[in-house]
Order: sequence, then structure tokens, then C-alpha cells
Amino acid sequence: MGKKVLVLSGSPRKGGNSDLLCDEFAKGAEEAGNDVAKIRVSEKKIGYCSACYYCVKSGGVCAKNDDMAEILQQMIDSDIIVLSSPVYFYSIDAQLKALIDRTVARWTEVKDKEFYYIITCADEEKESQETTLACFRGYADCVEGAKEMGVIYGTGVYEAGEIKGRPEMRQAYEMGLSVK
Ligand SMILES: Cc1cc2nc3c(=O)[nH]c(=O)nc-3n(C[C@H](O)[C@H](O)[C@H](O)COP(=O)(O)O)c2cc1C
Repeated sequence: MGKKVLVLSGSPRKGGNSDLLCDEFAKGAEEAGNDVAKIRVSEKKIGYCSACYYCVKSGGVCAKNDDMAEILQQMIDSDIIVLSSPVYFYSIDAQLKALIDRTVARWTEVKDKEFYYIITCADEEKESQETTLACFRGYADCVEGAKEMGVIYGTGVYEAGEIKGRPEMRQAYEMGLSVK
């Protein structure tokens, strides 16, 4: 029996660099016999957390009725979560940040996950991705039983699709293939 893999692709660019790396990872993970779902976060309706704490009184139901309830359930049900974002001013993008903040409604139920991270940026230096990676790791620090399994660093890519033919594509595919 394969594992349940949830790929959260944060880039607003469909076919952008990080999105393509997500596809490669997903392809490998699927070929390895896992049950893979990919979500393009920007195509979902996810409002910002308002910190109203309605979720505390309601037993985990958010006051905002949008796509997040279903995504959060998928996160809770998954064995593996892939977090992917382009570097936006040394951070993650707003789409993925909104999603992460909204997990607060049931955050203690997201537990025992294996995490993979996929990051792309225009700068050539891997160091330019450190603060974005720290955002992912910061979230995982809040997840009981979280285990970091791998990171794909796609550096030096600016235009959508520039990552095609780069070694990171193969790395992402092979990382997916290693999921068992
Ligand atoms: C709002 C915004 C902020 C960005 N900030 C950075 C940055 O701080 N450092 C960097 O190297 N690239 C930066 N970039 C470039 C993207 O990280 C780069 O184009 C990346 O490959 C985009 O990934 P995607 O194709 O998956 O969307 C920025 C792009 C945008 C749109």
C-alpha cells in the first residue's frame, strides 16, 4: 500500500518553475505506487485568517466558508505533505502563507507528517532560499511528529518554465520516486 501524498503548489504561475518541479515530484511518487493529490493553491478560494478564534469555540470549524476546510482535511489525512513556493522577497508567497495560517483551525490534528520542500528563485545563490525554507520549517516545527525528508532548490530561474531541462527536474522526479 502506498502513502497518501499531498502536493501544495503555491506559485500563481501554472507551469511555472516550482509548479513544474511539483509535477515531477508527483509523477515520481505516483510511479512509486503512492496515492498523490496536487493542489494549485492559487486556484482555490482561501481567505486570510482573521484571528477571530471562532474555530476554538466551534471545534475546528472556521468562520470562513471557502475551500480551506477541504484542503485542511486532506492535510490531516495525508502521510506526506509537499510544500512548494517561489521565493517572494525572501519569503514564501502570499497564497501559501494564507493556507498555512488557516490551518490554525485544526492545527493540532495535522500530525506525524513527512515533509518535502520545493523552492525556486531568480538568484543563482542557494542562500537566497534560506528564509523561504525557514518559513516551511517554521510551520513544520508546529506539526507534532513532523519529519523533513528532502528539499529541492531551483535557483537561477526567473521566467516561467526556465527550469525545464535542469537537473532539479530529475532530482524532483527521483525524490518523488523514493517515496515509499
Ligand atoms: C513578487 C515577487 C517577488 C520575488 N522575489 C524574489 C526574491 O526575493 N529573490 C529571488 O531570487 N527571486 C524573486 N522573485 C523571482 C521568483 O522567485 C522566480 O521567478 C521564480 O522562479 C518563480 O517561481 P515560479 O515560476 O514557480 O512562480 C520574485 C518574483 C516575484 C513575482
